[in-house]
Amino acid sequence: MSESETHEPEAKTAPIDELPAAVVQGRRPMIAGNWKMNAGGTDGCDLALAIARIAADHDETEVVVAPPYTAIAAVANELYNKKSDVAVAAQNVFYEESGAFTGEVSPSMLRIAGATWAIIGHSERRQLFGETDENVLKKVVAANAGGLKCIVCVGETLDQREAGQTLQVIERQVSAFAAELAKSGGDGVVAYEPVWAIGTGKVASPEDAQEIHAAIRGMLALVDGEFAEQTRILYGGSVKANNAEGLLSQKDIDGALVGGAALEADGFGKIIAMAAKLVRQGKPQ
Ligand code: 13P
Repeated sequence: MSESETHEPEAKTAPIDELPAAVVQGRRPMIAGNWKMNAGGTDGCDLALAIARIAADHDETEVVVAPPYTAIAAVANELYNKKSDVAVAAQNVFYEESGAFTGEVSPSMLRIAGATWAIIGHSERRQLFGETDENVLKKVVAANAGGLKCIVCVGETLDQREAGQTLQVIERQVSAFAAELAKSGGDGVVAYEPVWAIGTGKVASPEDAQEIHAAIRGMLALVDGEFAEQTRILYGGSVKANNAEGLLSQKDIDGALVGGAALEADGFGKIIAMAAKLVRQGKPQ
């Protein structure tokens, strides 16, 4: 048979939206709470337990809390004692394993404390603490080596958006770590957080956010198509209970990274419940 005569067997699978939910191999939504520099003591344990009580009724959603370093061990311990599935993330991680790095914390230390995730490259770290794409890559490498799953943040500033550079900036940020993130298979998470939407009450419209999320998935697909399909892309920036539905219903928005609204269990719980409801309504999991 000449090369022009060879052909792939015809696909016999049904389109994904015709399959019963149980057999859909999709992306489980994640709602992650970034507490920033808040709730770093026993108040963090109380908050985590209140969130765990709500999360227990919404298995469809993967829930992650990111307390300050000082509360990671206590929060992880409380969640463990309550047999909660809520996972703990660090808000940052250093890329060396040990040594003379005053004030830094390594992936294995975070694992010992009970964290299973690390937020990497948050815009506050990039803007206030000078983190670069190169640092972000080193941290993803270290997290992979140390057994921590990554939530890597990207997003444009208002100036960059107004200058029409949004996709260019995000492309630069994503291409710095995408190949490394792919090494953890579909376990890594990307968070799109437009800087102008963080803590401002100005949320991206669901349509605008969807467009950027789809573009990010396309950037991940340049590394590997399956990795891109499996990777959850969260939206972050002024997500609240009252705007979560529009965002989370978008095809490529697989969850949210929540700041201010994650500090109050009831409001955060409503976002968790909304993500679960959308799965029950047929958004592929
Ligand atoms: P806000 O939800 O307070 O806007 O913060 C978003 C954020 O930075 C999460 O990482």
